[in-house]
Amino acid sequence: MTAKKITLALLLLAGTAPALAETPKDFVAKYAAEAGAGFKPSAARGKELFSKEFGASRDMPSCTTCHTRDLKASGKHVITGKIIDPLSPAVNAERFTSAKKIEKWFKRNCNEVLGRECTPAEKADFIQFAIEGGKA
Ligand code: HEC
Repeated sequence: MTAKKITLALLLLAGTAPALAETPKDFVAKYAAEAGAGFKPSAARGKELFSKEFGASRDMPSCTTCHTRDLKASGKHVITGKIIDPLSPAVNAERFTSAKKIEKWFKRNCNEVLGRECTPAEKADFIQFAIEGGKA
């Protein structure tokens, strides 16, 4: 490719990328729509879900076990000890931008902590909570 063509390709990419990218708010809207007519996402309910001890697992009683009580802080996997980057989109621009990633981790983490999958309503509430500060 010539330099001119590369520049053109980059310009095209820059022009289309924002339209394709999904934001945390898009996912709140998507899950809220799945939750049904009249559902209103609530950061307060998201906070409750985040800090509640469900008792399904002895090792990981709540989301805070790995993510700490502050989504703007780094977490630590309670079993592997691996550092987990903050879940708050305010400090981590990659968060809640990939449907595949969100679904994968909601599925795994909810099954572990709650002993079941999270509902669309719970997912909408949780992402709303993360957007609005994410401190429990
Ligand atoms: C056993 C440790 C652990 C627990 C408990 C846990 N998580 Fe996670 N979570 C992780 C790891 C590891 C990742 C993926 C690593 C990364 O993205 O940095 C992750 C990623 C996520 C993501 C992906 C966000 C994105 O778009 O990048 C969401 C959503 C999430 N967790 C929600 C929850 C919720 C809700 C709970 C409680 C029901 C919870 N987690 C409990 C370890 C945990």
